[in-house]
Amino acid sequence: MPQPWVRPMRVEDVPAAERASAVTFLEGDRLSRRVSEPEVRPRSAAVGGQWIDRMSYLVETDPGGCWVAVDGEDLVGFAISQNRGRFWYLATYGVLPGQQGRGLGRRLMDAVLAHADGRPGLFSSTVHPGATRRYRLAGFLLYPQMRMVGTVDRSTLPAVPGLSEGDGNDIGWMDRLDESRRGAGHGPDHEYMLRRLRLVVSRRSGRLGYVYLDEETGQPKLLAAQDPRTASALLWEALAASRGPTLVNCITTANHWAVDVGLAARLDLGQEGYLALRGLPEPAPYLASGHFL
Ligand SMILES: CC(C)(COP(=O)(O)OP(=O)(O)OC[C@H]1O[C@@H](n2cnc3c(N)ncnc32)[C@H](O)[C@@H]1OP(=O)(O)O)[C@@H](O)C(=O)NCCC(=O)NCCS
Repeated sequence: MPQPWVRPMRVEDVPAAERASAVTFLEGDRLSRRVSEPEVRPRSAAVGGQWIDRMSYLVETDPGGCWVAVDGEDLVGFAISQNRGRFWYLATYGVLPGQQGRGLGRRLMDAVLAHADGRPGLFSSTVHPGATRRYRLAGFLLYPQMRMVGTVDRSTLPAVPGLSEGDGNDIGWMDRLDESRRGAGHGPDHEYMLRRLRLVVSRRSGRLGYVYLDEETGQPKLLAAQDPRTASALLWEALAASRGPTLVNCITTANHWAVDVGLAARLDLGQEGYLALRGLPEPAPYLASGHFL
């Protein structure tokens, strides 16, 4: 009987990878859910569409970092990573629940790490024991992450002066700021995010910073700043834009400024997965984006 095998991913594979990802992460979230947390829900069609858009962009931008595992006609695993200059990140990685524990995850990880070619790297990890085992054995340090959830108490919102709407002219200094926080700029990923998200910036000398916000929910998607005060102002701006329950995630221990803002806004603090790092110090003040890191 033919065995599942690993091959480079093509853009045509992305819709099948999205379905595999939805099933894999739903099951992973179910297994890691604590009793106090709400039931996990299947990914919506809208979120699935965003996943396809984002991953198609990544496969087109750096195809050598994108791999799939296939079993006959079926796509059963995926690992999507990217090189950006001397920096590497892993955007997503999974193997269908029924196929886990057979070595496919290891082969996918070997393929994306060969593409990384020893570059320093960064990604956000679940608590799945197979994932954390794979990452630590590959030399990544695992930094526990926190997250803040709830509905902002609007009576706590402060006036936040000195911020502006950002645009394409900001990308140059934003890339340099990224470089100082996590060793490399986001490069083309900024252009991608700018087309889909709202950008708020602080352009003041010595207090540079930016945050991308989801227009619909106001949720912050990526935040970088020169100092915790600017980072806090940007996060307050994001919380002011939130509607209904919100989520601030990818908070590592070097970013307690974000915990302080979230607590002041009466959000609840919880734990969630790890930020995995290789060859880099813990970025701060910085809140990584799940897929663009
Ligand atoms: C992480 C994942 C991709 C690994 O894929 P996989 O095909 O199961 O991986 P492998 O079979 O190569 O196993 C990986 C290693 O972890 C171990 N492992 C796998 N599943 C495990 C489990 N449930 N508990 C403990 N160890 C486990 C394996 O023994 C192996 O270690 P070894 O090579 O030293 O023996 C897969 O488990 C998965 O999709 N998990 C859910 C989604 C997820 O969390 N993805 C990570 C996103 S950051």
